[in-house]
Amino acid sequence: MRWFCFLFVFLFMACSSDAASQAVPKVSDKGGSSVQSSKGAAPTVKLNSGFDMPVLGLGTWTLRGKVAEDAVYVAIKNGYRLIDTAKYYDNEEAVGRGIRRAIDDGLVKRGDLFVTSKLVPWSSSLDEDIDDSLEKLGLEYIDLMLLHQHGSDAEDKAVYRAMERAVKAKKIRSIGISNYYTEKTAKRFFADFEIKPAVVQNESHVFYQNTEFKEYAKRYGAVVESYYPLGGRGHTEDVLGNKVVAKIAKAHGKSAAQVVLRWHVQSGYIAIPGSKNPDHIAENISIFDFELTDDEMKQIAALDTGHRYENW
Ligand SMILES: NC(=O)c1ccc[n+]([C@@H]2O[C@H](COP(=O)([O-])OP(=O)(O)OC[C@H]3O[C@@H](n4cnc5c(N)ncnc54)[C@H](OP(=O)(O)O)[C@@H]3O)[C@@H](O)[C@H]2O)c1
Repeated sequence: MRWFCFLFVFLFMACSSDAASQAVPKVSDKGGSSVQSSKGAAPTVKLNSGFDMPVLGLGTWTLRGKVAEDAVYVAIKNGYRLIDTAKYYDNEEAVGRGIRRAIDDGLVKRGDLFVTSKLVPWSSSLDEDIDDSLEKLGLEYIDLMLLHQHGSDAEDKAVYRAMERAVKAKKIRSIGISNYYTEKTAKRFFADFEIKPAVVQNESHVFYQNTEFKEYAKRYGAVVESYYPLGGRGHTEDVLGNKVVAKIAKAHGKSAAQVVLRWHVQSGYIAIPGSKNPDHIAENISIFDFELTDDEMKQIAALDTGHRYENW
């Protein structure tokens, strides 16, 4: 069973071997990936678009201005290569400044990074919105653009078509959806469009695991990316203070946050913990030097209540 899990995680984390371009020290790969990613300390997964995406990144919701810029810079310095923003967060310029500072300081090259943004469905100027995100971020392309949340069927279709056009124009590399939790609501994106979603970004954490949808998305080579991986603002204590999580953390000499994030990536999710705290940012990516046992994975799986905090 242990070998089966190892093989599964290894196949999931299809890693590049371009170790020469690493900007951070190599970390142990005990967690399942035998080759270190070229994009930093987190291994990568191969998307159905053909591009590699790190399995751990920085979330930037609620971070603005210099706080967002510094968080992005510190994250990159600590080995993060995946940064998550959105038009709605109103921080694309600040995120872009953090990225540029890291590039100017020689920490990374643009090609080492994987930048995600999102489009709102209620806009009537979608092509311009994509150009605006590119300009604000100061990038020539965005690695992943998501439909942030559902609008009407017509609005969703318009956003998705605009994203497809942008892929053809090489402004976006991969596209996906967010806040789609069931086969019933998500299947039209997989069935009706030329480019299938590569990523579905959904609320997921130890109390809301939605493994059924993760398995559904996998049939199309799509990966579920966990937002609120630590429970989300206002709820992190529920997750990080959980007794089962605390016991496992003690056994490994790790923090509760590290155990929870390790559970996400070991389960096959991509996780984007949000933080403005440099210590937390460093802590959250230090999860590739230990492995949860089958029994520990089962104990955390048993925490699932099927309830999420948000209903959008
Ligand atoms: N697609 C969507 O609709 C959607 C919705 C919500 C969020 N998102 C994305 O998902 C990301 C993650 O969600 P989130 O940031 O709301 O929630 P989260 O990552 O579950 O939790 C963030 C909270 O955890 C704290 N934290 C981070 N690391 C910690 C650690 N090691 N120990 C203790 N506390 C820690 C942070 O505080 P400090 O700053 O003090 O570290 C912050 O208050 C967002 O930033 C955003 O990019 C997407």
